[in-house]
Amino acid sequence: MKYLIETWGCQMNSHDSEKLEGLLLEQGHEPAAGMEDAELVLLNTCSIREKAVHKVYSELGWLREEKKKRPLLVGVAGCLAQQEQAALFKRAPHIDFVLGTMAIQQLPALVERARAGVRRVIDTGAYLDNHLFPPETARRGSSAKALVTIIEGCDHACTYCVVPTTRGPERHRPFQDVVAEVRGLVAQGYREVELLGQNVNSFQGGCSFAELLDRVAELDGLEWIRFTTSHPMNFTPALARTLARNPKVAPFLHLPVQSGSDAVLRRMRREYTVAQYLERLGYLQGGPADLCLSTDFIVGFPGETEQDFEATLALLEQVRYDQSFSFIYSPRPGTPALRLKDDLPHAEKLRRLTRLQARQTELTLASNQKMVGRALKARIETEAPLEGGHWLARTANWKNVHLMAPAGRRLPFRELVDIRVTGAGPHFLRAEAV
Ligand code: SAH
Ligand code: SF4
Ligand code: F3S
Repeated sequence: MKYLIETWGCQMNSHDSEKLEGLLLEQGHEPAAGMEDAELVLLNTCSIREKAVHKVYSELGWLREEKKKRPLLVGVAGCLAQQEQAALFKRAPHIDFVLGTMAIQQLPALVERARAGVRRVIDTGAYLDNHLFPPETARRGSSAKALVTIIEGCDHACTYCVVPTTRGPERHRPFQDVVAEVRGLVAQGYREVELLGQNVNSFQGGCSFAELLDRVAELDGLEWIRFTTSHPMNFTPALARTLARNPKVAPFLHLPVQSGSDAVLRRMRREYTVAQYLERLGYLQGGPADLCLSTDFIVGFPGETEQDFEATLALLEQVRYDQSFSFIYSPRPGTPALRLKDDLPHAEKLRRLTRLQARQTELTLASNQKMVGRALKARIETEAPLEGGHWLARTANWKNVHLMAPAGRRLPFRELVDIRVTGAGPHFLRAEAV
């Protein structure tokens, strides 16, 4: 069959799609050129916020019409599949199969059964060895860096979050497996990897996360290691030291804080106070000069007062994050935060979000402007220049670069080139190749 996979959600979901694609290829299927000639459409879904779920249902609505015109198998995988399970068939009876996040390896069996005419095929079982997925099966796309999952699941219990339900308890890959996979990726030409986990820094697969970074960094030919997402409670002085001392560990840290108010953090069950979070950031003192710090914020959490929100703005001012992602709280099925009184009007939540984001844009611009005039290295992330004539590249501290090169000069995809930064906007640096 000709397949098409559509993916929403985080890096881990993107990597899961690479695994799902590998399984379909092993089973003898081939990629469709587009939706028109697809015979199997697999939606790899996200349910972190309501908006993500809406997108999936709207795509499913469109596929229902397609199915009236021609034979087509529709499968739903990912976090929405794990969360809703068989209820998905009620909501969208034209779905042929549902595949949970821990049951990825069952995809070929599900496709076979659905193809044989069995209706409503489902496997959302908790296969707790899912993290041992054979690494050679994944079919990576043409990105400059390779994604490598090292932990699945989450053992924290933030009151707003679906992930502990949709991804299950933490399972850690043995560090030898991780090192072997990255060695293979380097042999294929990757110079950069990103280690993934819902709480990547809680890694305990036979060594600590800081030790794992050092072990991976020993591989010849590997240039940069990134990782996401770190939980503040699992952020240790040892990890901060590794960030500071190991030149292959890219100087970038995403450490979601969520709120600058202790009262809100308590209701979120984030396990830290603002002071404890700042203490952990303090571990970074004397760290890499170019370190970029990133975070996530949730605004309008149930009961968030104007003062709570001001405290979040004050924290933003104090830390001066280089970038952040911020979202309005989205009530999620089965989460404890549903029981909290949430009576703040949406318009007010939106006003807070807009204020926070406007200030972040200024801070990000200032952070980018600091780089102007600098000579440094960036990795080429496109195989050819874009329409504007520039190439896309990334610095070690994860800034987007629009890179100009003399006409006719081809820049090497996936490799580092020397650049000089000539300008900065809030979303990217402008630079020229030297
Ligand atoms: N494991 C990571 C976060 C994973 S989810 C951590 O603990 O930091 C990514 C981000 O989505 C979160 O940091 C949070 O800011 C946001 N998020 C999660 N659930 C949400 C919800 N119900 N409403 C709004 N934002 C949410
Ligand atoms: Fe969700 Fe909290 Fe786990 Fe992050 S740490 S995935 S926000 S429960
Ligand atoms: Fe979404 Fe699941 Fe990732 S809910 S953010 S796809 S872990």
